[in-house]
Amino acid sequence: MADLRELMGRISEVKKAITENSENLKDRKAVYEMRKSYLEKNGSIGQLMRYMRDIDPTQKADFGKMVNELKSWAVDYFDSLDDDMKEKELNLRYESEKIDITMPSRHLQSGCLHPVTQIRNQLIDVFSGMGFTIYEGTEVENDYYNFTALNTPKDHPARDMQDTFYLSPEFLLRTQTSSGQIHVMESQKPPIKILSPGKVFRSDDDATHSPMFSQMEGLVVDRNITLGDLQGMLDVFVKRIYGSETRTRLRPSYFPFTEPSVEVDVSCFSCGGKGCNLCKHTGWIEVLGAGIVNRRVLENCGIDPDVYSGLAFGIGIERTAMLKYGINNIKQLFESDLRVLSQIKDR
Ligand code: PHE
Repeated sequence: MADLRELMGRISEVKKAITENSENLKDRKAVYEMRKSYLEKNGSIGQLMRYMRDIDPTQKADFGKMVNELKSWAVDYFDSLDDDMKEKELNLRYESEKIDITMPSRHLQSGCLHPVTQIRNQLIDVFSGMGFTIYEGTEVENDYYNFTALNTPKDHPARDMQDTFYLSPEFLLRTQTSSGQIHVMESQKPPIKILSPGKVFRSDDDATHSPMFSQMEGLVVDRNITLGDLQGMLDVFVKRIYGSETRTRLRPSYFPFTEPSVEVDVSCFSCGGKGCNLCKHTGWIEVLGAGIVNRRVLENCGIDPDVYSGLAFGIGIERTAMLKYGINNIKQLFESDLRVLSQIKDR
């Protein structure tokens, strides 16, 4: 027969063991494991019930009560232990995730588009506002599209104006985006209104010329297109790019694929026309070549020049960027020197 006293001793031993062993618990998981080892069906507390059968019947009720008290004490004890542990873990997390909002921030450098891309985008913006759509041709062309169809047959002296990189007797790197005019007129019927940006290549190399540069070609073909339409469109373009005070002037020039041909000057946006270094004291700056599409070119593309007429212009993108941003050597646009490029954040 088991002695109730002795069993009471066992009960307080269990209690003591729980209190002592729980001192070194590290986290909630450990609390949970320990709780299981005491309170599960076959846990240490449940096992005390095994003594029931050895006890004097008059004492069974008391013993049962004592074990139940121990059980509910243990439940409360582990609950509060878990609460404490939860708080401790949370505090640790707060501590490790603490942000010092008084700390100075790291300097973030933001990038920007290359000046040539900025001007390209601005030009596309201006002309697409006037209804132009984009045609992108290829950089490798054949002789026909780059020259012959543009009224510049072999041995034509105008071929000397553009020193050409030939890839073979037939193929070359296009010297002008004007080659796109032919592709477009061959494949579309008037009315035509296209803008053709792209790289062009010439064997030419000094402070204002580079063997590779970019142009923006414009072509409009419809009934009754005149130089007045050309000047009107270019006026809108120069005012948007160089400022609303800027005026244009057309000077006679020569291109085999336009007749008449013009060179377009803008009033100097640096001195307002009074004369300065930028305009070489003339008050005017040359910005592009343009003209009325030569009848021969329309004929070459199967368009009747007695019904339709066209205008064309070719803008040098690097030249526009150099003028607008005050860059005096074209190489600065190709050297990727961030000290130069990061100063030009137009859009
Ligand atoms: N293609 C000419 C050049 O590169 C520019 C131009 C284009 C002239 C369209 C007239 C018409 O010099």
